[in-house]
Amino acid sequence: MKRTRIITLVAVLAVLAAALLGYDLLRRGSDAASPARGQSDSGAAESANPSAAGSDAGDSKILIVYFSRTEGVYDGPLDVGHTKVVADFIQARTGADEYEIVPATDYPTDYQSTTEIAQAEQNEDARPAIANPLPDVADYDTVFIGAPIWWGEYPMIVRTFMDGVDLNGKTLVPFTTHEGSGLGTTQSQLAAQYPDATVLDGLGVRGGEAESSRPDVDEWLEGLGF
Ligand SMILES: Cc1cc2nc3c(=O)[nH]c(=O)nc-3n(C[C@H](O)[C@H](O)[C@H](O)COP(=O)(O)O)c2cc1C
Repeated sequence: MKRTRIITLVAVLAVLAAALLGYDLLRRGSDAASPARGQSDSGAAESANPSAAGSDAGDSKILIVYFSRTEGVYDGPLDVGHTKVVADFIQARTGADEYEIVPATDYPTDYQSTTEIAQAEQNEDARPAIANPLPDVADYDTVFIGAPIWWGEYPMIVRTFMDGVDLNGKTLVPFTTHEGSGLGTTQSQLAAQYPDATVLDGLGVRGGEAESSRPDVDEWLEGLGF
């Protein structure tokens, strides 16, 4: 009798140990398989800034890519860049991952010089370097791409991003902040660069209204089904 109890106890402990080990292995496995946060296609070091709190909205995996500045801005310096404010509202509703485009060479801190450099970049069709590794976009179905309007379109550094990742086959959603140009040419730029993507209606928010734009952002997202 006593021997039977000991055998039973050992068997129960063995089952418990196996269950715990299995959970640990599963957890590690899912961490390794989770979507890229700052991983580069080339496997370079982790990015300085991508962040994520989860990336699911329903069954869709969503990434928010944005470029935004606090200095050299029309109404700066700012605590948080206008476009980042909007990006964070989208993140709060969708639970998406975020990737920030960080320039390898920062722009000037004054507005006038920034506009001159931006215009020169546009005239030269430049591709300013990005400091942080590009995200692995393979697992995402939907990618929001947000930036300030510079001279009527996305800043050229967003083109650098667009040239570096293939977003064909995905759902793309532009958003901007601006001082009057709305979405500029962002929607048509995305459609031209990725002919096999579906480009949804974007949202342009005036920079000075970014902080109070949450209801508009939510309404827009709801209209798109997010
Ligand atoms: C270089 C540069 C060019 C700009 N060009 C335009 C423009 O063509 N149309 C417009 O409405 N706003 C333009 N703006 C204003 C910005 O789009 C606006 O201030 C934006 O909200 C800044 O966003 P951020 O804080 O996320 O960088 C320009 C600003 C800069 C710095």
